[in-house]
Amino acid sequence: MQRLLIFASGNGSTAQAILDYLHPNPQIEVIAIACPNPNAFVLQRAIKSNVSTIIFSRDEFLNDTSFKNKILDYNLDLIVLAGFMWLVPQWLIDLFPNRMLNIHPALLPKFGGKGMYGDKVHQAVLASKDSISGTTIHLVNERYDEGRILCSFSCAVPPERSLESLRHSVQALEKYWYPRVIEWYALQASTAD
Ligand code: GAR
Repeated sequence: MQRLLIFASGNGSTAQAILDYLHPNPQIEVIAIACPNPNAFVLQRAIKSNVSTIIFSRDEFLNDTSFKNKILDYNLDLIVLAGFMWLVPQWLIDLFPNRMLNIHPALLPKFGGKGMYGDKVHQAVLASKDSISGTTIHLVNERYDEGRILCSFSCAVPPERSLESLRHSVQALEKYWYPRVIEWYALQASTAD
């Protein structure tokens, strides 16, 4: 059994896709959803899906040993970030080397870094006139969006493409592929390194 924790900060539609896809798989259990915002919709999704929640402050995330011990107590195999916007502190990266995944709504290494999330990313892609965008799934390291890329999935960006339409296409790719890549990574790749 692979024990998985999801970090999310907002709406949580990506976390929902992960929960729904992994639910029937007896080899993987989503142990909890961790979120720094007590009002985030993702927490309602967790409750509805019968998944535990962990709400934490920035200070706990950065420096608190009781938060660290709580994470350790869960005996996790893998952490996945799904719409989580904070830089991950070194202590957490050290606890989960090659065991933490993130998804970014563009083709890294372009359009990543601090402050690049959600629509800001899509706006930058449209402004660049690049003809493709997509989503990138990567390991998490101590810098925003710079961990080793595992895979990416692309979609066309014709000149007339709107922000809404680009967001829609990228999120469709994310919701289809991220749960499947998480499953693959949890069950195969994590035993291979
Ligand atoms: C997703 O599109 C994800 O790729 C993006 O935030 C959205 C979360 O939506 N993440 C980033 O931009 C990270 N830099 P959600 O809250 O509905 O899952």
